Amino acid sequence: MDARVNFELTWSQEYEIGHPVIDQQHAKLFELYNMIAEAFSAGLGHEVVAPALRELVAYTRYHFAEEEALMERLGCRHIITHRREHRRLITEVSALAADFADGQPVLLYELLSLVKNWLSDHILSEDMKLRELMEAW
Ligand SMILES: [Fe+2]
Repeated sequence: MDARVNFELTWSQEYEIGHPVIDQQHAKLFELYNMIAEAFSAGLGHEVVAPALRELVAYTRYHFAEEEALMERLGCRHIITHRREHRRLITEVSALAADFADGQPVLLYELLSLVKNWLSDHILSEDMKLRELMEAW
């Protein structure tokens, strides 16, 4: 039996919130995440995974800032809780990524599960509220 876990995240229309820039950024986050998941599955080492993780964290920060600016423009009333969720993910993932870069024992498996679940759940629940808001505009 194949006990390997499939970490891949497949982008599909269900994740689209209907804003072309944000959707393209979310798709790019999936892509960056998948590169790490593939490197992990292929057993690639620190020298490949550490820079890829750094890129994921940097792009996530950039994307969150863009998304929060859009929420402000739209007058989104969920912005405080939404921003808090963004901060929480960045704090958790950047701490794990920094430990990994330093050669500390980090369970990449846990890190990938965290990002994977977070990305899909957050987009489908929180970011989708933006879709409703844009439709109401
Ligand atoms: Fe978000």
